[in-house]
Amino acid sequence: MKLLIAYGTTEGQTRKICEFLRDEAQQAGHWVSIADTTGPQLRPSGFDAAIIAASVHYGNYQASVEHYVTDNHELLNHIPSTFLSVSLTAASDEPESWKELNNITESFLDRTHWNPDVVEQVAGALLYSKYNFFKKFIMRLIAQRSGGGTDTSEDYEYTDWDQVKQVITKLETAAKTREQIT
Ligand SMILES: Cc1cc2nc3c(=O)[nH]c(=O)nc-3n(C[C@H](O)[C@H](O)[C@H](O)COP(=O)(O)O)c2cc1C
Repeated sequence: MKLLIAYGTTEGQTRKICEFLRDEAQQAGHWVSIADTTGPQLRPSGFDAAIIAASVHYGNYQASVEHYVTDNHELLNHIPSTFLSVSLTAASDEPESWKELNNITESFLDRTHWNPDVVEQVAGALLYSKYNFFKKFIMRLIAQRSGGGTDTSEDYEYTDWDQVKQVITKLETAAKTREQIT
C-alpha cells in the first residue's frame, strides 16, 4: 500500500506519533510518504490510503491541517483514510470532556467535507519544557482540572503506544472493506 501521512503539530507530539506510524507501516511492508502540512504540500493523488493527524489547542486543530484537508477532501474521500486527533482530553475519562472533544472533531470534519473511514482519538502530552511562561500557567490550570501532571519541571506523556500500533491495522481493514464493497 502506498500510504500518505500528513500532520500538523505545535509542540511535536503529533510528529512523534506520525513518525512512529511511518516506522510501523514500513515494517508492515507499506511504502510511506510523510509531510508536515506547514511545509511543501504532498497531494493525496497517487496514494492508496492516507492518515491525517492534528492536535487540539484551545478547542481547534492546526489551521494548516484544516486548509490541507479542505483543499484535498475530494481526493481523500476516494481512498481509505484515518483522522488521528491528538489531545489531552483523550487521556481523560470525563464524559463531558469527551463530548466536547467529539464535537470539535465532528465540526472539523463537517467544515472540511472529509469523511474518513476511521477516527482515532489519541492522548497527547504535557510538555512543560516546551511551553513559555503563559502556556505553562494555562496548561497547569487545565491539568489541575483534568487530573493531569502539574509539576512544571517535568514533561508528561499520555500517548498509548499500543493504541497507536493498531492504527495501521484498522486502516488496512478499512481498505479491505472498501474493496469488498466496490
Ligand atoms: C496552549 C495549549 C492549549 C491546549 N488546548 C487543548 C484543548 O483545548 N483541548 C485538549 O484536549 N488539549 C489541549 N491541549 C493539549 C494538546 O492537545 C497536547 O499537548 C498535544 O500533545 C499537543 O500535540 P502537538 O505537540 O503535536 O501539538 C493544549 C495544549 C497547549 C500547549
